[in-house]
Amino acid sequence: MATYENILVETRGGVGLITLNRPKALNALNSDLIRDLAAAIDAFEADPSVLCMVLTGSEKAFAAGADIKEMSVREFPDTYTTDYMAGPWERASTCRKPIIAAVAGYALGGGCELAMQCDMIYAADNAKFGQPEVNLGTIPGIGGSQRLTRAVGKAKAMDMILTARNMDAQEAERSGLVARVIPLANLMEETMKAAEKIASLSLPAILMAKEAVNRSFELTLAEGVRFERRLFQSTFGIADRKEGMMAFAEKRKPGFVHK
Ligand code: CAA
Repeated sequence: MATYENILVETRGGVGLITLNRPKALNALNSDLIRDLAAAIDAFEADPSVLCMVLTGSEKAFAAGADIKEMSVREFPDTYTTDYMAGPWERASTCRKPIIAAVAGYALGGGCELAMQCDMIYAADNAKFGQPEVNLGTIPGIGGSQRLTRAVGKAKAMDMILTARNMDAQEAERSGLVARVIPLANLMEETMKAAEKIASLSLPAILMAKEAVNRSFELTLAEGVRFERRLFQSTFGIADRKEGMMAFAEKRKPGFVHK
């Protein structure tokens, strides 16, 4: 497995685990880290033995934002011509396999945006979410204004983005930003348990389920329901669907082959 300067990667069974690892900068996202992260996601996407991914940081910080020191010297023509913060900065959002963000500590600015690019967020009870870019004279740049609004609604998104206040884990769960709040000491164990469950299932069914949920953000209800129904019907063409239903009827565990 490749090694990287700013992240740690490992596989545990069918789960690919990526740990952001720039502790001195609270995992601030600079171009090198983002290049590492995108490459690691590419590698796990291409590895047939990996069926689910987990993205995490440290107990103090998932990521305290885009790297402000790196950003401070940039100018508009260069950010525009290079389409700064497109491409690898959005790689987690284009991942086809499921990816869970396990967030402890600060998930601010680009850190919150990175967590929201994942399929779901499991938060430790010390997690803090925020989009404080206005404090720096800028605004969210990796989807924060769009994904946060879809997750928590206009009222709370405006409150957070315009006042730069943080949301704690409990409020984030109440507001629909995170799927579960977990005591810090159990965050990785619980997250890995969920990831292992996903990895034990049929990959094509999981990919279709993820695609169907994600389409709900882009389609009308009628078109979304039609899209879901077509995918549902197409599961009748995969061996794992037959195996799953037969196993239920025969009161045994299914043996999925990801076909
Ligand atoms: N960029 C670069 N370095 C950062 C950083 C960031 N986003 N966040 C923290 N660091 C660095 C600090 O500069 C400090 O480095 P030094 O020891 O070399 O001074 C180190 O990490 C530890 O940070 P603090 O001493 O500040 O730690 P703290 O516990 O006192 O405070 C914090 C923690 C409240 C998270 C504070 O670090 C902070 O406010 N960070 C910035 C948060 C922020 O504004 N994020 C948004 C960035 S803009 C963005 O992300 C744009 C976008 O949408 C794409």
